[in-house]
Amino acid sequence: MALFKKKETTNVDFNDLPRHVAIIMDGNGRWAKKRGLPRTAGHAAGAETLRSIATYCKQIGLRYLTVYAFSTENWGRPAEEVGGIMGLLKKYLREAIDQADHNQVKFRFLGDLASLSPELRDLCLRTEEVTRLYEDCQINICLNYGGRDEILHAAQAFAADYAEGRATLDELTEQRMGRYLFTSGVPDPDLVIRPSGEVRISNFLLWQSAYAEFYFTDVLWPDFDRNELHRALAAYQKRSRRFGGV
Ligand code: IPE
Ligand code: IPE
Ligand code: MG
Repeated sequence: MALFKKKETTNVDFNDLPRHVAIIMDGNGRWAKKRGLPRTAGHAAGAETLRSIATYCKQIGLRYLTVYAFSTENWGRPAEEVGGIMGLLKKYLREAIDQADHNQVKFRFLGDLASLSPELRDLCLRTEEVTRLYEDCQINICLNYGGRDEILHAAQAFAADYAEGRATLDELTEQRMGRYLFTSGVPDPDLVIRPSGEVRISNFLLWQSAYAEFYFTDVLWPDFDRNELHRALAAYQKRSRRFGGV
């Protein structure tokens, strides 16, 4: 009976939001399958969800939103699906470039952009360029991103600096390591959200999420809305972060 339904406490304190929320946008394929649609229709629906969640995050004053759009492992999917995802990315980036002044959001792309098509890579760089001066809200899109790949790149970059005499071994601190990562300059995520029911990290922000809070939900990404975000934020606000202290 509705009268006795346990009231869910999704009261969010919007004056005390996490600085950085990261989302593994998972479940597009299952969302499409449930509807008898091709997987690419799920990706199209997921892209719309990203548009509305990103708009809402800017509205409530969230400082950093990082989303996992395509992993280094996702190349292993059928060419048609990969092509569909890349096509959607191009469409939304063109829109982001056109609407940059209206959205007032800074975009950054995290991942190895070198193996993207020149057209998509160029759109990523142009999006970064035209949005670089907006400071209130930053959206990081992880594209051809892998946490292990990122750490390998960082190790190679430090090794090059060491070999060229630009760094000594004892200069490799956690701070300096952070500057070699794709996320250089971005604070670590406070909250990592994974929809779709999977309870794993799937190579996302391995270094950066050392002390992140995790929130898992069965909701599929295309169905994720602001109420789901509120649930995640409310859960986060009830946690006690100790960072190894007492
Ligand atoms: C996430 O949705 C999008 C990408 C990985 C690109 P999936 O496509 O993984 O959806 P499921 O997990 O098959 O439902
Ligand atoms: C993680 O989802 C990658 C993205 C959401 C872009 P996957 O669907 O690729 O992860 P697994 O295969 O379930 O671990
Ligand atoms: Mg998946």
